[in-house]
Amino acid sequence: SRLIVAVDGPSGSGKSSVCRAAARTVGAAYLDTGAMYRAATWYCLDQNVDLSDEDAVAVAVEELPLCISTDPDHQVITVDQTDVTAEIREARISEKVSEVATNRRARSLLIDAQRKLIDDAGFVVAEGRDITSVVAPDAQVRVLLTASAEARLRRRGLQMGGTQSEEDLKVQVLERDRKDSAASNFTEAADGVAVLDSSDLTFEETVEALVGRIQG
Ligand code: CDP
Repeated sequence: SRLIVAVDGPSGSGKSSVCRAAARTVGAAYLDTGAMYRAATWYCLDQNVDLSDEDAVAVAVEELPLCISTDPDHQVITVDQTDVTAEIREARISEKVSEVATNRRARSLLIDAQRKLIDDAGFVVAEGRDITSVVAPDAQVRVLLTASAEARLRRRGLQMGGTQSEEDLKVQVLERDRKDSAASNFTEAADGVAVLDSSDLTFEETVEALVGRIQG
């Protein structure tokens, strides 16, 4: 049977790991749409596309030979058969991804691809910034996963192995929030979207809360 779970949330809300774990628990597929924007950015940089050139970015995304796994136990993303799973997490990508994500034509192409992946999966947890509002507004389960700025900074710091100074992290996370929200207001829950605030929850508790919503 078809069941779509749409989850949105800002940077460092723990969205990706929470959604992947929840998908695994309920036996659903998992779609990380942020990884697609990151892979598109990787490709633009690889092709030496000037990110300030809107048409060039759109053309690159149009021809993007992207392949993304929706198996929560085996997350692999390739561009033209090159495995970019690890590289798309690098700072050089994080710093540039908003430039691709704010390109209207690029977004529209990636959204089409996301809808097709969701459709093919049938039972899927899809996460990003605009899944509850734009990509899959008809999803049966729609959740906005939030966390206080402090909690998000703390988690991001842990994720990067604590190698960065607190000040650097703060600038990075808040700066990307600012760039993202200039294009969309993803931190506002749309009508009918449940807010799940994970600030005071452990990882396991957050996964449980999401699974509870999926199992209704
Ligand atoms: O690292 P973090 O979890 O914050 O981000 P991500 O989920 O990997 O997404 C990376 C970037 O892709 C975001 O900062 C947004 O600019 C963009 N994005 C988007 O615009 N729409 C989505 N549905 C998902 C990601």
